Amino acid sequence: AEEQRHEFVIQEASVRRLCKARSIVTANGQYPGPAVEVSEGDSLVVSVVNNATYNITIHWHGVRQMRTGWADGPEFVTQCPIRPGQSYTYRFTVAAQEGTLWWHAHSSWLRATVYGALVIRPRDPVPYPFEFHGEIAPIMFGEWWDMNPIDVIRTATRTGAAPNISDALTVNGQPGDLYSCSSQDTTVFAVKSGETNLLRFINAALNTELFVSLAGHTMTVVGADASYTKPYNTSVLVLGPGQTTDVLVTFDQPPGQYYLAARAYASAQGVPFDNTTTTAIFDYGASGTASPSMPTLPAYNDTATVTAFTTSLCNLHAVELPSVVDEDLFFTVGVGLFNCSAAQNCGGPNGTRFAASMNNVSFVLPSTVSLLQAHYQGDGAANGVFTADFPANPPVQFDYTAQNVSRGLWQPVPGTRLYKLKYGSVVQIVLQGTNIFAGENHPIHIHGYDFYILAEGFSNFDASTDTAKFNLHDPPMRNTVGVPVNGWAVIRFVADNPGVWLMHCHLDVHITWGLAMAFLVEDGVGELQSLGAPPPDLPIC
Ligand code: C2O
Repeated sequence: AEEQRHEFVIQEASVRRLCKARSIVTANGQYPGPAVEVSEGDSLVVSVVNNATYNITIHWHGVRQMRTGWADGPEFVTQCPIRPGQSYTYRFTVAAQEGTLWWHAHSSWLRATVYGALVIRPRDPVPYPFEFHGEIAPIMFGEWWDMNPIDVIRTATRTGAAPNISDALTVNGQPGDLYSCSSQDTTVFAVKSGETNLLRFINAALNTELFVSLAGHTMTVVGADASYTKPYNTSVLVLGPGQTTDVLVTFDQPPGQYYLAARAYASAQGVPFDNTTTTAIFDYGASGTASPSMPTLPAYNDTATVTAFTTSLCNLHAVELPSVVDEDLFFTVGVGLFNCSAAQNCGGPNGTRFAASMNNVSFVLPSTVSLLQAHYQGDGAANGVFTADFPANPPVQFDYTAQNVSRGLWQPVPGTRLYKLKYGSVVQIVLQGTNIFAGENHPIHIHGYDFYILAEGFSNFDASTDTAKFNLHDPPMRNTVGVPVNGWAVIRFVADNPGVWLMHCHLDVHITWGLAMAFLVEDGVGELQSLGAPPPDLPIC
């Protein structure tokens, strides 16, 4: 195992998209940011120098961070932001994970432009569990706004209204040639006829779940979220924000050019979304090609295709699941509304402002210290930075999918409430989508953990019948699960990583609105003293 060193200089750079130039925040002037490549077992030392005018942190999405919570990165959870002119060095090991992850800013909406791939190859001489000729560079989907995305979310936060939808979807930072002004900048991937390549897909979009297809070619899924899956052949992939999918493609079609295309899966009824299509070109290098052929993508509301995809992913290996569950938890996830006074004149539906919650708690970040540091110093709950009383099992059961639930019952209450887990406990969470404002698929991500997805379904989770659907044999392991629109998903993991770990919806607008909570996994050694002292350069608020 090696130590890999990188420097990310956070700096503003001018880029031109959709006929307009705009200054964006970047890592090293690159958009998307630099790819980080490691072999399993390597350690990473990444010093982040903030030369931009915004506060920032970097999160290593999906990296387990075993006992290295100080390097996880979400602002005010494991560290205070790196202020302009300051720097912080992230030190951690990437172990027992192979495949594709990514890194992104975890501060306001900066991840719109500050993100990159994290490729984890098997360590020498460990083979891949499949065969291929070569790799295509990581394929990252994103979203582009004509306005500065930080201003977009600041405006929405001020008014209480929903933020503007993006103006384009992107592949590796380029909208592609279906947009005007974009034809010169389409991303092209060169392939060789007859070869089988490994493609690594990452959905780095802020607020958009995606369907992805490659014209004329079958994709064989072999991994997701840096965990191998049983090979699964499909013509369409589904990726929620935060998720990755590794696929094999054999370039066995008549030589020519083929579009890779991605478009939104928009599960919420009547909610505006970016309905544009981003494209890249796979090019066999044949001369005199006609225009590329276009794949057929599912309709924006094709939930059946989403279900067919997600329920087809199985772990490559048989899994030994702990059968006794120590913590049997039930979390609702959904978007609700706060009341506003007439004077406030909020911009949400009927003069309200949008809010989102888990178990009706709309998560509020602290602003003077990170949750991890507050707890490490033994004053987390005591000095009022947080309370350790997240209502993990709501006292009242409602019909969560009914839109006629009285708003008074489900008007989220703001709070910084953590849930304590004992080190080593077996945790199962039923994630139940609600339908207070609109039913929606929510990509729920947990920091510091991978989890098994045991089952998913629609309507209200019913323990008396739905536990029979649990896959206890080869459930896929992921770090982000799509909780189906008007439905539920059940996940299980062992709380084997001490620290403070954020759990949230990876639609960024929902985390802004409070669709988050945090776990406090205790190590039995005082207040997480086994983690060791914070690094000397850890930013303080
Ligand atoms: Cu990919 Cu909390 O993040």
